[in-house]
Parts: sequence; structure tokens; C-alpha cells
Amino acid sequence: MLLTERHPGEDRSPESLHLTKGEAWRFPPFGKGGPGGIFAGGVERHYAHDLSVNYMGPGGARHGGRLRWRSRNSHCMIRIENLKKNYRAIEALKGVNLQVGEGEMFAYLGPNGSGKTTTIKILTGLASPSSGDAYLSGYHILRQTLDAKRQCGLVPQTINLDHELTVYENLNIHGKLFHMRRRERLSRIDELLEYVDIKERRDSPVKQLSGGMKRRVMVARALMHAPRILFLDEPTVGLDPTIRRKIWSLIKKIQQSGSTIFLTTHYIEEAEFLADRVAFLEAGRIVALDAPQAMMGRLGTWAMDEIVNGEMETTYFKDREEANRHVALQKGSFALRRVNLEDVFLSVTGKKVQP
Ligand SMILES: Nc1ncnc2c1ncn2[C@@H]1O[C@H](COP(=O)(O)OP(=O)(O)OP(=O)(O)O)[C@@H](O)[C@H]1O
Ligand SMILES: [Mg+2]
Repeated sequence: MLLTERHPGEDRSPESLHLTKGEAWRFPPFGKGGPGGIFAGGVERHYAHDLSVNYMGPGGARHGGRLRWRSRNSHCMIRIENLKKNYRAIEALKGVNLQVGEGEMFAYLGPNGSGKTTTIKILTGLASPSSGDAYLSGYHILRQTLDAKRQCGLVPQTINLDHELTVYENLNIHGKLFHMRRRERLSRIDELLEYVDIKERRDSPVKQLSGGMKRRVMVARALMHAPRILFLDEPTVGLDPTIRRKIWSLIKKIQQSGSTIFLTTHYIEEAEFLADRVAFLEAGRIVALDAPQAMMGRLGTWAMDEIVNGEMETTYFKDREEANRHVALQKGSFALRRVNLEDVFLSVTGKKVQP
């Protein structure tokens, strides 16, 4: 796909922007000053290999809507190169390589202890790598730490809001930490609380909120400084199916605003539903990486579960006809179903995901 545009402030003639499959052409849904403050000033962000528009600085309009333009070699928002992390004798990461494109929803899956949170901690500056490199929107996480940190927001695995403070106060403190001005903080808080649908609890102490409400406040807090990349470490753990779906809609909405999303979850169907691409991590190594449909397609389309000698066994079929022919010969009990992403997990790691 070929698109052209003229960049304000650039003396070049309109650039030709090539979009490849999987890249999106998005328009800012919120307009000026919307929740994705990355669009402040009403400027559209275009996804391209060779040129991109970045709204720099954590404070969004704090900089008076000034835009800083810079060329980049790629549209890659997260780049991880041979990342290793040792905790004394524990090799938590054994050389992870990964690239996540702009606007992509990327799911990072794996069993307990496989290194998901460790990766996120390193990328968000909460832990240092033992070796290897990582870049957020082109900024090296160690050599350009502050710039790299401004690119991202984090919803951590454990709820770490200040429970004695109100929703508003929690968000306000975060804004202050990112040097946002008062007026900007106030309008941003109002916008975000509406965005995550929790506006009416603005002045409630966090300790009075339900688990699902707290998770939504954590998402709002992570978005305060208008990051371009959002890290979500098990954002729906412990939530009931209705609230989980509400959070899914919220995550989709954030992606549609142009953000890049890096998600971990033990609910594999969540990744299957949400993610553009999925990586399976096992014992600190990526063992599979692709789009969910492509991964599932390699196994087949239908699966039959049966108990053989006390063990669950699954057989995969390329289509329904093949499955029907097989089950016609079955004597014992079985369950026929569609192939899902959990089958892929089992086939690449040999493990069942533990919620
Ligand atoms: N601060 C730490 N000190 C020592 N070891 C650690 C520390 N943090 C993590 N580890 C170890 O690193 C490995 C990876 O842990 P990590 O928390 O990244 O896994 P995870 O994939 O996020 O697991 P889960 O699905 O349970 O959240 C584990 O063996 C864990 O025990
Ligand atoms: Mg974890």
C-alpha cells in the first residue's frame, strides 16, 4: 500500500510512505488532546518504514503542542536483541530476540517463571539486563533511559496503586512524576477516567474499589503521560469473565488509538482474541512466534480430545471431513472441537498453561 502525506515543518515534498501487510493506517479517534495525547495538535500519526511523527515528551500538550520530528530507520517500537538476565544462578532470560511494530498488539505468553515479567521489567527500566540490547521507539533502554521511559506506560502484574489515596490522587501523583502541569493533569485525568469508564469513582479511595475497577485505574494511570507503548502484565488476572471482556474492549480501544501494546496473560483465549502476533516463551527462550491464526493453522482446524490410558491425548485434523472420518471409527468417549491457541502452546512447550 502506498500513501503520501505532507509533514508540517518539513521542507520536503510529500513523502511516499509504504505500508506493508499488518501495518495499519489509522486516524486519530480522539482528535486534539484526546486520550492518546500522542495525537495532540490534531496531527495524524502515519505508520511507515522510513519516517514517523513522534510527539515527544511525557507531558503531551505541556510542551504547548510542540512537535518534534525525527527520522527513524524503522517503524519498530520495541526491539530486543539477545537479551539475557541472570538472577544469581537463575537464568531468567537466555537470549530473547524480538521486534514489535507500531500499532501492533503483541502477546507474550508462557508458563509461570518463563521470564515474561522479567522482560517487561527490563524494558520499562525496573530491572537491568545482564547482557543484550533493547530499544523503545528507537531509544536504547540503558543509554537513553529517560527518553525510552517516556515512550512507555506499564500496568504491572500486581496492583500497586496507593490504596489510601483516591483514584484522582493516584493519577495526579503519576502526572506530577512525569512533570505534567496542573491544568494538563486535571484535564487528562478527567479524560482518562471517562475513557476507562470509572469517572463516577474519581474521589473514592482506591481501597473501596473492586478488583476490576482497580485494574482500570491502573490502565488510566499508565496512560497519563500519553505513552506510545503500553505494557500490560496480566491485566485481567483474577477478574470475572464480564469484567475481563470489558478490559479487552478497553485494550482494543487503546490499540485503535494508535498505541503499541505488549501484553502478557495466562488466559490464552484472550491472546487469541486480541493479539496480532504471539510469542511463546519457555524457560527464558522464545520457542514460537507468529500470528495466532497462522500458528493454529499449522496444527489443523479441528481437534479431538480423548483419554488414553488415563492421559488426555489430542489429535488434530486439517478439516472437518477428516475429523468426521476419524471420529466415525471412535469407540470410546471423545470431544471434538476447534483448534485453539492453547493447542499451539501445548505443542510448542508440552505444557498446560497454569492460570
Ligand atoms: N527478583 C528476583 N530475584 C530472583 N529471581 C527472580 C526475580 N524475579 C524473577 N526471578 C526468577 O526469574 C524467573 C522468571 O520470572 P518471571 O517473573 O519473569 O516469570 P513470569 O513468566 O512472569 O512468570 P508468571 O507467569 O508466574 O508471572 C523465575 O525463575 C523467577 O523465579
Ligand atoms: Mg509474571
